[in-house]
Amino acid sequence: MKIALLLTILLAFIALSFACDEFNPNISTIGECTATQKVSWKPTDNAQVLTPADLDPQELGMHEERMAYVLAIAKQQNKKFVASIYHQNGTLMCLGVNTGKPNIISHGEIVAINNCTALHGITSFTNYTLYTSGEPCAMCSAALLWADFKTIVWGTFNSDLLCKICMSNIPMDSSYIFGRYYGLRASPPRVIGGVLRTEADAWFGSYCSKPTSIYYIKPQCVCTNTTSPLKIDQTRYSSWFENGKTVSQFGGIITNTGSVTVTNPTFTSSPLRPNSIWGLAVDETKNTWALQWYPVIQPGQTFSFGYIIDGEDQIAFQPTA
Ligand SMILES: *[C@@H]1O[C@H](CO)[C@@H](O)[C@H](O)[C@H]1NC(C)=O
Ligand SMILES: *[C@@H]1O[C@H](CO)[C@@H](O)[C@H](O)[C@H]1NC(C)=O
Ligand SMILES: *[C@@H]1O[C@H](CO)[C@@H](O)[C@H](O)[C@H]1NC(C)=O
Ligand SMILES: *[C@@H]1O[C@H](CO)[C@@H](O)[C@H](O)[C@H]1NC(C)=O
Ligand SMILES: *[C@@H]1O[C@H](CO)[C@@H](O)[C@H](O)[C@H]1NC(C)=O
Ligand SMILES: [Zn+2]
Repeated sequence: MKIALLLTILLAFIALSFACDEFNPNISTIGECTATQKVSWKPTDNAQVLTPADLDPQELGMHEERMAYVLAIAKQQNKKFVASIYHQNGTLMCLGVNTGKPNIISHGEIVAINNCTALHGITSFTNYTLYTSGEPCAMCSAALLWADFKTIVWGTFNSDLLCKICMSNIPMDSSYIFGRYYGLRASPPRVIGGVLRTEADAWFGSYCSKPTSIYYIKPQCVCTNTTSPLKIDQTRYSSWFENGKTVSQFGGIITNTGSVTVTNPTFTSSPLRPNSIWGLAVDETKNTWALQWYPVIQPGQTFSFGYIIDGEDQIAFQPTA
């Protein structure tokens, strides 16, 4: 009798546990959306990528030292992609070199992760930082999210590898993957790109003129000028004495030297302020200047401004990119 009861309870448990696995829209708990709705992802921003300029000198120094080590191993073994993993207590736990072995997906990051597991039995990397000579590819970025790395640091950017040096890669910034962390974990990794960028870029070299290299690919990229096409020329027309001090009048001409119309340009300036100005208007909270009227400059066209200021020094205006 007792055994029959126990058996019934056991069977009930088994039945329940199977029932949980089987999705029945009539009785299962629905997460988001109803059973009859089509589901898709919420739009999500890419992860923020910090650069050396965002770090305090002490932290940057540590990352540079570790990146220098990764690059030294790379040069010693004559391999482009090398990764290292440090515990948060500062201990170097393992290295990974992409030697193309045992197969084509043995990227430095994957090799380093597998090495750490083999050497130290680490299965989750919550308290670890990964360094890599080149930004993680789409495959490795996803692997690093799964592995739960707290911090990820690289030298050369994927976009530079593909677009500037014609090296085959999946055309995706790792920040795209890292920004989608919420399907796996509560917070994104801390992502730092461009540590010893110049040295890492130099080590990757260029494949653009080596179409027979295994690394070569013809890039398909979008190029955007980082410097403004606006050129500013200023002239001091005159200076005079007024109430015991020198006052000067300046005239300025902004020229669009590029091939594309510039709309709503802004300018930064030295802290000098004019007594009066026409053509430009300041936003004191942002310390930037905007065009005072019709803020559109066609290619080859100009926009004029002028001001009167104490002293004989001009205000140094700089177009923001
Ligand atoms: C859900 O309910 C509908 C309507 O009552 C029924 O036709 C359908 O078979 C049920 N689905 C399942 C998986 O039980
Ligand atoms: C840091 O942590 C790792 C992993 O637990 C351990 O192997 C290593 O000995 C530790 N190092 C120091 C200096 O505490
Ligand atoms: C694994 O890491 C260790 C320790 O850093 C290193 O000596 C070794 O070469 C690495 N092995 C592989 C296969 O990269
Ligand atoms: C990571 O380190 C913190 C202390 O800094 C500790 O509380 C936590 O348990 C560690 N996590 C893992 C997965 O080892
Ligand atoms: C980018 O800069 C080049 C010269 O540096 C110029 O010829 C070109 O017109 C610029 N492109 C745009 C969109 O301004
Ligand atoms: Zn990879």
